[in-house]
Amino acid sequence: MQLYWFSPLVILILALHRPEEAPPKMKLSDYGFFTGKLSDLAPADNVYAYAVNAPLFTDYAEKARFIYLPSGQKMQYDSVRAFSFPVGAVIIKNFYYYHNAAQPEAGRRILETRLLVRDEKGWKALEYLWNPEQTDALLEVTGGTIPVEWVDKSQKKHRLDYVAPNQNQCKGCHSYDGQFTPLGTTARQLNREANGTNQLVAWANAGALELPAGFDPAQAPRLPNYFDPETPVHAAARAYLDGNCAHCHNPHGPASTSGMFLGVDETNLERLGVGKPPVAAGRGSGDRKFGIVPGKPDQSILLYRMESSDPGIRMPEIGRQMPHAEGIDLLKKWITSM
Ligand code: HEC
Ligand code: HEC
Repeated sequence: MQLYWFSPLVILILALHRPEEAPPKMKLSDYGFFTGKLSDLAPADNVYAYAVNAPLFTDYAEKARFIYLPSGQKMQYDSVRAFSFPVGAVIIKNFYYYHNAAQPEAGRRILETRLLVRDEKGWKALEYLWNPEQTDALLEVTGGTIPVEWVDKSQKKHRLDYVAPNQNQCKGCHSYDGQFTPLGTTARQLNREANGTNQLVAWANAGALELPAGFDPAQAPRLPNYFDPETPVHAAARAYLDGNCAHCHNPHGPASTSGMFLGVDETNLERLGVGKPPVAAGRGSGDRKFGIVPGKPDQSILLYRMESSDPGIRMPEIGRQMPHAEGIDLLKKWITSM
């Protein structure tokens, strides 16, 4: 008979043991976020569809975003930082390609669903990959590479080994002073019209968001649509940089040491890159001398890195493989106009 099981040390360890947090669900369908056929992504009760003003480019993937709030719970508004969420909230981001972007009704293929789950300790990232039958998505901490094909709006055919990031890479973007944070759930991203009503006001009316007394969307921060031809080039370029770069390039983000801060509120031109020598010269800078050279996009490191697909040079360094041609055009116009 082995008596050591009853040793005082074991008893102490058992006494100090706290139950582990619930393990993540293995299948997306286990959460019950959607009703009917899962791939229709039709939101269940307490699940709110939303869109952002200045989305992140991810190799031309389309995105469908949702927020789940536990019954009776609300988000809290903040004018600058990400809104606060109640424990139990989940933000859901689905990535897909239309088979043919000119004919969305011809169907789509969903590749991944990323979750940010708010628990007692903070935010937790989870990654689910869809099966080829499109009946469910399974938890996959290591991410994956998925060959995809699609036809874009101009009828050009594309093939790509799409990369779904692994769970460790999420924090490479979703980080504020080293703490995991949501990125797009800010006033400037969410203050927009949806189905004829302001998205924030609609949530407040549905009891999902606490707004300050007398809230007026016209006075609240709002990023413009960066590809709307009506948006002046300067405002469009700043919105593009805010949505695609500033989550890393800010004093609290993963690229804080670059000294290049690309948030829409940055007013210091050198911190934006104008006349700023790179922290590391050489290959990553293409031997160009400054982040931005006014009037000269072809001498600006910023464009060099946006145009590159080389993992050691390209910006963003993770989350895309293809250069974003339309984004590059916009930034070229902006730097040319300086
Ligand atoms: C290249 C940077 C980058 C990486 C890597 C990344 N994200 Fe994000 N993510 C963003 C940005 C920027 C937004 C907000 C803009 C948007 O929704 O288009 C966002 C939005 C989200 C959202 C919607 C809530 C929010 O934060 O606005 C979820 C959920 C999410 N990401 C989960 C994940 C998970 C899980 C991973 C890892 C598997 C991951 N992300 C990896 C940049 C990134
Ligand atoms: C996932 C985080 C991340 C994202 C997103 C990101 N960057 Fe960076 N960037 C970095 C890091 C880290 C460095 C510093 C190391 C280096 O130069 O590679 C950097 C450096 C740079 C530099 C050199 C800065 C200098 O002065 O040394 C430029 C230019 C740049 N990024 C442009 C961009 C642009 C433009 C975008 C958006 C289109 C972007 N980055 C998005 C992480 C990121």
